[in-house]
Parts: sequence; C-alpha cells; structure tokens
Amino acid sequence: MANSFEQQLQVAKEAGCRAGEIILEKQGQAAITEKAANNLVTEADLASQDAIIEMIGERFPDHSIIAEEQDLHQKSGAADQWIIDPLDGTNNFAHTIPHFCISIAYARSGRVEAGIVFDPVREEMFTAARGKGAFLNDNPIIVSEANSLQEAVIATGFYYDRGKIMRKTLQSIERLFEANIHGMRRFGSAALDLCWVACGRFDAYFEYTISTWDFAAGMLIVEEAGGCCSDQAGDSLDLNSSGIAVSNGNFHEEFLAVIC
Ligand code: IPD
Ligand code: CA
Ligand code: CA
Repeated sequence: MANSFEQQLQVAKEAGCRAGEIILEKQGQAAITEKAANNLVTEADLASQDAIIEMIGERFPDHSIIAEEQDLHQKSGAADQWIIDPLDGTNNFAHTIPHFCISIAYARSGRVEAGIVFDPVREEMFTAARGKGAFLNDNPIIVSEANSLQEAVIATGFYYDRGKIMRKTLQSIERLFEANIHGMRRFGSAALDLCWVACGRFDAYFEYTISTWDFAAGMLIVEEAGGCCSDQAGDSLDLNSSGIAVSNGNFHEEFLAVIC
C-alpha cells in the first residue's frame, strides 16, 4: 500500500460519490448568487464542498486543502494537499443543464498523485493514480487515435472574462475551423473536458485561463490515459499554470501552433 496512494484514491472516490448525491438532491432548487460577473455559486457548490472537506479531514486531519469556494486559498505545493472543485460546471447546474462534475485531486509536494472526476448524472467515475493507468468506472481508458487536427473534435472553455481572453479564444476557434477540424465543443465543465479527452470522446481541449481545481485531477487522468498536457507555450503543466492545452499526443505541436 505504501506510496501507491490507494487510500487517497479511495477517500476521493467516496467523497466524490457523496458530493454527487448532495448535488443531485439540490438540482432545480439551489439558490444562486453571482460571486463575480457571470461567475455563479449555488448552495450545491457549498454543500458539496463541506461534505468533501469533512470526509477528507476525518481521514487525513493533517493534510492541507485548497477548495474553490473557500474564502482564502493556500498556495499549492504542500507536502500533502487536496485540490477540490466541489462543482465544476456551476453555470450548467444553475441553468438545469445536466453536465457537471466533482473534481478531487491529491498532490504530494506539488505533484498530483491521485485524482477523481465524478459525473453524477451519467454515474461516470474517472480515476487515476500515478503510474497505474486511468479508469472510467474501473475500466481502463485510453486517449483517441486521431492523428491530425483534420480528424479532431476539440473542446474549449471560456473563463468569466468578456474581453481579451474571450476574443483570443474566439480567434483560435476560427483558426481551428480553418484547419478543417471535425468540430468544436464548449460543454461548460473543464474537468469533464479533460476526462473526455482521456477516454477518447474529445481529441483535444484548450482554455486560456483556468484554475488549479479545474484541472488538477483531470490532468493526471489524461496523462495516465496516454495523452499530453502542456501549457500554451508547450511547456510542462504544473499546478500553478493558468493556461492549458491537452491532446491525445498525436498532433500536439500542430494543435499548439494554431492556438498560440
Ligand atoms: C468553470 C468550468 C468551465 C470553464 C471555466 C471554469 P466552474 O468552472 O469548468 O467549463 O470554462 O473556466 O471556471 O466555475 O463551473 O467551477
Ligand atoms: Ca471549475
Ligand atoms: Ca466550481
């Protein structure tokens, strides 16, 4: 069991399942507030976060926790740290669009070692522990076989910014269409976008401004499924990165050249 991070993975799975129940119970009845322009938070985000933090705290009382809806965020890099998005896809949830998830990562000294992303609507549990492969409901997953942009369905996301970053994203989408991709998708949950690359539903995904809790678990799941994660300069992704480019690895350079 030593260093296999099985215990952390198990606790993350249990906490993800419990959070999923809480979120589904609140569907259609959760009060919504806007914490910043277009950036929503609901009772479900907060209740999910409380439950996850409680479950992790019971099992690992001395570990540090970064969770999106906390008032203050610790820096990443602690010896034992959990990085949590209690509800990724809040905008979908608040608009009764059934596409959202819970993301929980465990990192040791700034490196993610285990993570889960749970979609409670489809009952899909994506999991990975470093060096052990990636799984969907305990079945191994691998990235797609697309060999070029011309064979790719690509996902993206927009931060809440309605200025420079939004325009940059729109320009990249235009260039990707000019490169004759199969299609673009913007489904509204970055953590699921990553997992859908991991299991081959998407061939690539990019987003220019993203938070640690959006990608910490999904990044490991993509890597363990054989995919490639970088920042937009092509440099290696770490927990402090703010932009992300992910692909099945077969056409990463071609992809970066279009979105940079
Ligand atoms: C958001 C979603 C969205 C992405 C945003 C994220 P939230 O997370 O993942 O797809 O484009 O950048 O902030 O606010 O729903 O947890
Ligand atoms: Ca999020
Ligand atoms: Ca969130």
